[in-house]
Amino acid sequence: MKVLLTGGAGYIGTHTIIEMDAAGHEVVVVDNFYNSCPEAVKRVEQIIGKKVPLYEADVADEAAMDRIFAEHKIDAVVHFAGYKAVGESVRKPLEYYDNNINSTLSLMRAMKKAGVKKLIFSSSATVYGTPEKCPITEDSPTGNCSNPYGWTKYMIEVILRDYCVSDPDMQVILLRYFNPVGAHKSGMIGENPNGIPNNLMPYITQVAVGKLKELSVFGNDYPTHDGTGVRDFIHVVDLARGHVAALNYDKKGAEVFNLGTGTGYSVLDMVNAFQRVNGVAVPYKIGPRRPGDIATCYADPAKAAQELGWNATHGLDDMVRDSWNWQSKNPKGY
Ligand code: UFG
Repeated sequence: MKVLLTGGAGYIGTHTIIEMDAAGHEVVVVDNFYNSCPEAVKRVEQIIGKKVPLYEADVADEAAMDRIFAEHKIDAVVHFAGYKAVGESVRKPLEYYDNNINSTLSLMRAMKKAGVKKLIFSSSATVYGTPEKCPITEDSPTGNCSNPYGWTKYMIEVILRDYCVSDPDMQVILLRYFNPVGAHKSGMIGENPNGIPNNLMPYITQVAVGKLKELSVFGNDYPTHDGTGVRDFIHVVDLARGHVAALNYDKKGAEVFNLGTGTGYSVLDMVNAFQRVNGVAVPYKIGPRRPGDIATCYADPAKAAQELGWNATHGLDDMVRDSWNWQSKNPKGY
């Protein structure tokens, strides 16, 4: 298939190019480099040994999207592009709603004109809000999101479901990601956040490399095995392969899948595994809880296993090793 990746220069997008290429698909990338850089795609080209058609454009620019669809006969779109920082979304709600929702609407209009009937959307476990139970199955209640970023994911899911009702030939696969970590085994590409990282793993790697002084563990009084927050960390290569599996899913309508491992690890489990596997110190202190955080969140990935034939294959040691391999080889990022 020929697949357009919006936001394809980003962390998950770049890893997905590689897995799609390995599975025999052709990839086209559109990215505005708001939170990514062309160098990441150059490195992917070195890894796969071929050029990747790359357009610098905003997905909200419908005319630019029309041109891409005119130049390439696209079979499916993976829509990664979007703002993704939870804390920033609380400070800038209008920007988040405007960017994430309007870019999706513009993409859908361009796809409609071009007759593209398959869309894979980067949703998030954040749509479950505070889960009533773990593991979380896809039919668990959604909504009650704790921030505008989460609500944009929730609203886009609603929009895409409605769109499927209006066009019975449409296929939409909503992938609810849990916590992506790790990097390609080459260490040439990886997560490269702007400024001080919000997420746990890039914070750990930047402490380990000496860029940041110490990790603040946000609370150790949660009802978990060691008091720190528990999440379903998933290797980004497994996550990328989930998108390849979704390409082969050909049921019509909107369908949702969790992409997680089904295993929860705590913040301190991650820190300890990182130090043990990599032999580097990660100084940390226990700090207060972060507002909006939940104690525990992990997936039931059975539906993706049954219907997509997809399973995560990388374990905790792979995740912490590959995260460090990327950061230690690229202490300043790209
Ligand atoms: N944590 C720390 N210190 C840090 C950063 C994080 O202790 O410096 C802790 C958090 O409190 C939490 C865990 O590490 O317990 C994971 O935090 P992340 O910020 O890495 O991830 P979240 O689970 O909070 O959020 C992630 C994505 C969101 C997504 C959400 C959905 O970043 O985009 O998962 O589950 F919405």
